Amino acid sequence: MEINRKISVAPMMDCTDRHERYFLRLLSKNVMLYTEMVATKSAIFGDRKKILGFNRFEKPLALQVGGSDKNDLSEVCKIAEEMGYDEININLGCPSKKVQKNKFGACLIKEPDLVADCVNKMISSCKIPVTAKTRIGFDDVENYEYLNNFINKISSAGCKTVILHARKAILKGLTPKENLKIPKLNYPLVYEIKKANENLEIIINGGITKTNQIKEHLTKCDGVMIGRAIYQNPYFLTDIEKEIFNTNEVPSREQIAKQIISYLEEEVKLGTKVNHIMRHTVGLYHGQPGSKDWKRYLSDNMMARDSDFQKAKHIMTIVQNNEKANQLNS
Ligand SMILES: Cc1cc2nc3c(=O)[nH]c(=O)nc-3n(C[C@H](O)[C@H](O)[C@H](O)COP(=O)(O)O)c2cc1C
Repeated sequence: MEINRKISVAPMMDCTDRHERYFLRLLSKNVMLYTEMVATKSAIFGDRKKILGFNRFEKPLALQVGGSDKNDLSEVCKIAEEMGYDEININLGCPSKKVQKNKFGACLIKEPDLVADCVNKMISSCKIPVTAKTRIGFDDVENYEYLNNFINKISSAGCKTVILHARKAILKGLTPKENLKIPKLNYPLVYEIKKANENLEIIINGGITKTNQIKEHLTKCDGVMIGRAIYQNPYFLTDIEKEIFNTNEVPSREQIAKQIISYLEEEVKLGTKVNHIMRHTVGLYHGQPGSKDWKRYLSDNMMARDSDFQKAKHIMTIVQNNEKANQLNS
């Protein structure tokens, strides 16, 4: 299957778990989805169903892995392929201290040969595509020569798709949260890399929040990856469906709410906690009349660890009120 990476939702720890991905897939059939980063050792030795399990409805889906031991990475590639993932992505962009200590994530930008060796072994271990997600530089290094050399090493090892977060990583002195705001984004450097590497699929990421920005980036890159703007406002995906994928009919928020409640009902029977699913839906009415009521209902009734599924049934009253308010507004 040829993967369409025109638009993807970024891997985000504590956000893009399987419930979030199910929710996002209700909103968009065309975007590519990524898991949160999973460390190689967790994937190999952890509770596989819990850590790597997913619903086939989420597909196409990539597993993002963090590691720098080529044998472990190779093992995870085999596991991912066997489990039915469509792609495996190596994280070369996370700047957190813990991740650096374990020698994976952004600190690997400093070690192009090690990365190439890992990528090479990963590619020879599975038939699904191996992709990389990285930053445009690190600490004092943010220039075309270094980045292009790094990318050439990865591509010579066989990786044909690179996601570039257009912001360098500061490995010392900034928290991971600050590393998502500081330093400034540098889109032109990503465009330059694409121009010089016509044969590579280059996906641009960082700070993209509107469909007109997406359209502009798509004139210069092969794809756009979006993280926070979708997590905070998931219904943004329906604008993407309409404007980027030319989808005529998109689901209403009411339809989405109904479908997520049905999913919740099934999952609760299997032992999933209500809050583990509903926490991802906080932004469904982002910017809409009724957003406050929706959030309040969720926080009062469905966010506690022991929240009762029965409360979920009443949430449709909020949904219907919001629908009426929207009809009056339009
Ligand atoms: C809460 C959070 C968790 C993240 N976790 C990951 C991760 O597990 N792997 C990764 O490659 N990037 C991670 N990122 C970075 C995002 O994938 C993305 O590169 C970044 O947020 C910039 O895109 P945006 O401006 O569209 O959000 C995370 C970002 C956030 C906000």
